[in-house]
Amino acid sequence: MAKKDEKSKKNAPLIGIDIGGTGIKGGIVDLKKGKLLGERVRIPTPQPSTPQAVIEAVAQVVEQLSVRPDAPEAGSHVGVTFPGIIKHGVVHSAANVDKSWLETDIDALLTARLHRPVEVINDADAAGLAEARYGAGEGVSGTVLVITLGTGIGSAFIFDGKLVPNAELGHLEIDGYDAETKASAVDRERLGLSWEEYSVLLQRYFSHVEFLFSPELFIVGGGISKRADEYLPRLKLRTPIVPAELKNDAGIVGAALQIAVKHKLAN
Ligand code: BGC
Repeated sequence: MAKKDEKSKKNAPLIGIDIGGTGIKGGIVDLKKGKLLGERVRIPTPQPSTPQAVIEAVAQVVEQLSVRPDAPEAGSHVGVTFPGIIKHGVVHSAANVDKSWLETDIDALLTARLHRPVEVINDADAAGLAEARYGAGEGVSGTVLVITLGTGIGSAFIFDGKLVPNAELGHLEIDGYDAETKASAVDRERLGLSWEEYSVLLQRYFSHVEFLFSPELFIVGGGISKRADEYLPRLKLRTPIVPAELKNDAGIVGAALQIAVKHKLAN
């Protein structure tokens, strides 16, 4: 590639897509600012969330974004998140989506359907990358743990701004339970817990993770980070704990950012 082409691709906007248990969200990401250009697009996640149905839904979102005047160049990479372990483009866990995803090559399926290169990253890893680059973790060295509280519990392990992928700290076994079956945001709603009651579960969870990793900072993401005032002040930890700053867009931004990091397309 000529030097000029490489230069023009640096920080060029990219499409990011966030596959969640309830919604598939996408946007065009400005990689200089870590923000969306224009509105995001959201469609409900098909139920059952089989590979074929979800791939069609992702294609719909990408098509809607691609016809916008500020859309990235046709054929450019698309970054996608998935709520499970992703290694070399292959799905290795599917706790909150259809089990038929297991062992599918999601990169290959999406690349074939969209006719452009697609790379997939775990959803919490994407949110963590975005927070480390543009949000609450910007400039923090050492270990930063980003914990997302949603349908499940997701986690991103960041060290000196770099991601150590696929940390599954939502599945730590605590008091005989898989943590995400007791302390996720959905568990709080399902069990009808007050913020005070929920904080007791979070205290147990975060103090255990703190003991295991002694991080410099905890960042709490997921939809519930909007209500951080209700529970963060109740937690007693040695480690500072702050809400995520990118809120709903962290996954979309991180999906695009992982592409830029991997292919050296962002400063
Ligand atoms: C999955 C993680 C995912 C998290 C949040 C967990 O059940 O195992 O991979 O990041 O949910 O979606």
